[in-house]
Amino acid sequence: MSNDDFFYELQKHSEAKLNILDNYVVPWMRIITMGPYGERALVIDGFAGTGKYSNSDGSSIRLIKHVLKFCEQADQNNWDCPQLLILLIEGNRDNYNELLRNIYEITSLDLRDEEDFLPISDYPSIQVSCRFGDFDEILNSMLGRLKNGQTLIPSFCFIDPFGFKDTPFETIKKYLTNEKSEILLNFIYEETNRFITAKNPKVQSHMKSHFGIDNIQSIQDLVKGTPAQLRKQMIVDFYSRQLLENTDVNYVLTFEIKKAGRAKLILFYGTKSIEGLKVMKKAMWKVDGTGLYMFDDRKDPAQIEFQFTQDLNDTILLNDLCEILKNQYSGQHVHIKEIEAFVLTETIYPLENFCKKALKNLEKNDGFIEVKNRKVKGTYPKGTVIQFK
Ligand SMILES: C[S@@+](CC[C@H](N)C(=O)[O-])C[C@H]1O[C@@H](n2cnc3c(N)ncnc32)[C@H](O)[C@@H]1O
Repeated sequence: MSNDDFFYELQKHSEAKLNILDNYVVPWMRIITMGPYGERALVIDGFAGTGKYSNSDGSSIRLIKHVLKFCEQADQNNWDCPQLLILLIEGNRDNYNELLRNIYEITSLDLRDEEDFLPISDYPSIQVSCRFGDFDEILNSMLGRLKNGQTLIPSFCFIDPFGFKDTPFETIKKYLTNEKSEILLNFIYEETNRFITAKNPKVQSHMKSHFGIDNIQSIQDLVKGTPAQLRKQMIVDFYSRQLLENTDVNYVLTFEIKKAGRAKLILFYGTKSIEGLKVMKKAMWKVDGTGLYMFDDRKDPAQIEFQFTQDLNDTILLNDLCEILKNQYSGQHVHIKEIEAFVLTETIYPLENFCKKALKNLEKNDGFIEVKNRKVKGTYPKGTVIQFK
């Protein structure tokens, strides 16, 4: 698909990706800027696009609109205005020009060839920069300006390229050394899979840089002759391991996006924060509530499950979580914090709508857990200790 076609119309599978971005970024901004430290935050859209499709906003304009809405809310509620920086990077001149026009339309900011962040006049605590150029170069130059021991302000970087050659693992790793930095990377699975065994030295060099490896043979040996489904799992596991073992992130979450039944994109979310993981699981679960962490554009509206099948599905999932908790904690005294961390990091389930509901079921239906020192029955507030039978 050419660049022009891409921005013509937002396709369903790309919309799923942007819905996850929407679902995540708003609560993320709130947590950082309104948390106990009221910190400044930086949002980076590394492959910003034009900001608009014929039928929808693109990632960059969505991000700006979210921030503006957040400021309006702050105004209405007499909260302190959030301190937010938005950095947009776009590498195609025509797209960049169109993006500038789209930004101007909603902020009245003229950011053409401006290297600094400029404040939005209605909300000066919001500053925007829109850079023409290569994601890798611009991010590296920004990171290079940090002095020894200096770290970026808390930041979230959305990385949404067309292919695999513009997202070197080393740059992502360097970015992730910053204390509160995290990524949502659109890993272009279809192309990566197609070219992973290529013999062309230039392609091999891009592939090595993409995976952050010196020897392409290691990954080629892994996938050669492997059936498609297993091959996909191996590639996803390989990249997840790279993130977990070779960068500073503690948690990785993936979400598969299919187009016409074929695995097209895999979103990789990497964070050091369990709070971030909690918010992203919820954001992904909203797009696919089956527990598969997958969107398939072949599911047209007529195929969408009726409410009663959804409810049935939720009941099955809840029962499954009850069984998992029984097996994990039988005979033990456990702190609610530990249970929540377990659900978040070791199961497919988000906390919301699952963890406390499962505990409630275990208490009410099976009498399988007992809770002491609690004011209100059926609640599991901070500090609760639970005795599993
Ligand atoms: C998949 S599109 C981004 C779509 C956008 N994130 C959205 O959801 O609306 C990729 C964009 O990255 C731009 N691009 C390609 N290579 C780039 C690079 N090396 N650095 C920055 N931008 C690049 C392309 O021109 C294109 O606009």
